[in-house]
Amino acid sequence: MQTPVSLFTSEQSTSESPASKQFASGQPTSNPAVSGQAVTAAEQQAKTTESAVVKPVGQAPEVNIQTPIASAGFSAALSELAVKASTCRLCGLSEERTKVVFGVGNPEADLVFIGEAPGRDEDLQGEPFVGRAGQLLDRMLAAIGMDRDQIYIMNTIKCRPPNNRDPKADEVQACNLWFEQQLDLLQPKMICLLGRVAAQTVLKTDEPLGSLRGQWHDYQGIPVWVTYHPAYLLRSPGQKQKSWQDLQTVLASFQKLNQVT
Ligand code: URA
Repeated sequence: MQTPVSLFTSEQSTSESPASKQFASGQPTSNPAVSGQAVTAAEQQAKTTESAVVKPVGQAPEVNIQTPIASAGFSAALSELAVKASTCRLCGLSEERTKVVFGVGNPEADLVFIGEAPGRDEDLQGEPFVGRAGQLLDRMLAAIGMDRDQIYIMNTIKCRPPNNRDPKADEVQACNLWFEQQLDLLQPKMICLLGRVAAQTVLKTDEPLGSLRGQWHDYQGIPVWVTYHPAYLLRSPGQKQKSWQDLQTVLASFQKLNQVT
């Protein structure tokens, strides 16, 4: 039987660096779903001064956010929003896109993962994280005992930027119309931001990823954790260890949140 660790690392099984193998061998063998882990001292040191907009929450959040009442109307509203977004022409990206990539997963999920922008595979299929990075994301989720049906996945913008360049400010601004309404409907209890672009966009900061990791942030009252983008982990498998610790932090805090609800 595969352990959570092997699920998380199997993609690179033929080309893994020694650092990645070290990561695999360094993982806990207990069920990660019940073994939350604090961030390391090195990560704590990476913390930087709080900016005006980014408001770190020092401790794992203990707020008691009420679960939205599950109803067909609730997910119908999300579907309705997706239909409206599917014909969006608010920015230039609409001219080259194949499909608007709205979001996927459980509309009543308490945990939302947010990536940067659709890539080529996502643009073709209309679903976030379906390429190689998405496959790694699936293994990362499996490693913490979750799958796409339990969470919701979306991006900061809904259309693919040409050649996978970073989204421009005016594109983010235009897409905010959909982004904010989507999160309003989802009302997650926790958000996990994947990568620098998502982190800087959602938290409205220029701080580097290394500074944003390792501390809680706040998005409109929702606790936010920042971790590496799976595409970056594919290029730098040695960072999977830190990513694993991030997921442990998210999971432990998420379980704590649900206990007090
Ligand atoms: N990278 C992202 O940030 N989002 C996707 O949907 C796919 C790749």
